[in-house]
Amino acid sequence: MSNPLAFEDRPEDGLGGRIVPMRLQKFLARAGVASRRGSEDLMTAGRVTVNGVVVTELGSKVDPLVDEVAVDGKVVSLADEPVTIMLHKPAGVITTMKAQSDKPIVADLVPTDDFPGLFPIGRLDADTTGLLLFSTNGELGNLLLHPRHHVAKTYLARLKKPLEDESAQRLRAGVTLDDGPTQPADVSYADKARKLVRITLREGRYHQVKRMFDAVGDPVVSLHRESFGPLRLGKLKPGEWRQLTDSEVDKLRRAARS
Ligand code: URA
Repeated sequence: MSNPLAFEDRPEDGLGGRIVPMRLQKFLARAGVASRRGSEDLMTAGRVTVNGVVVTELGSKVDPLVDEVAVDGKVVSLADEPVTIMLHKPAGVITTMKAQSDKPIVADLVPTDDFPGLFPIGRLDADTTGLLLFSTNGELGNLLLHPRHHVAKTYLARLKKPLEDESAQRLRAGVTLDDGPTQPADVSYADKARKLVRITLREGRYHQVKRMFDAVGDPVVSLHRESFGPLRLGKLKPGEWRQLTDSEVDKLRRAARS
């Protein structure tokens, strides 16, 4: 494979890097064909060609600027669109892209090799589980995090003791925290014992849910984010991620603007 371009002369890939020769399975993943694992399966099944020749060898490299890659005869090229994914964050994982200790971090769970420049949109506490978004698109991140646009986020909180009706009412109306009063929230019971409570907020302050329940004297034992705007975790298991479709990203943008 000839390689006529020096690194500095290579074009940017729109994901914070330059387009350089890479392993075929990485190319296929970045082109959005399948996950890296799924791309390897496509290769070993003999469905992938490079310049018209079937390639099954998993170590093979391609130069996206020179080589023509096809799957089942259909040519694929690198997506230069920004990428947004959702992760089902497990408990015990810190929301950071840079390790500060030997504790597990979300960067270990998302495909930073395939999508350089991924960053978390907001954060969840280490012990909180559930839906966490990541994107390579800074503009989308700013839109979703801007206090003026805060989209609704729904959490399931397991509480130390049953939540009194009066406390639920106070949470709905807004409680006063040390950084000011909270905006109206939706609060409903999710079990008969009233120890599992669903709460929807339209703002996102530090430890907000836990502080709100503390304020009514009923501490949170565990917390799970079920949804972010129009997006729900669905069947994603803890530790799994998936890429959002264009239509899901459009829906997110609309939710932020509404
Ligand atoms: N509120 C919290 O207290 N913790 C989270 O992780 C998210 C919202």
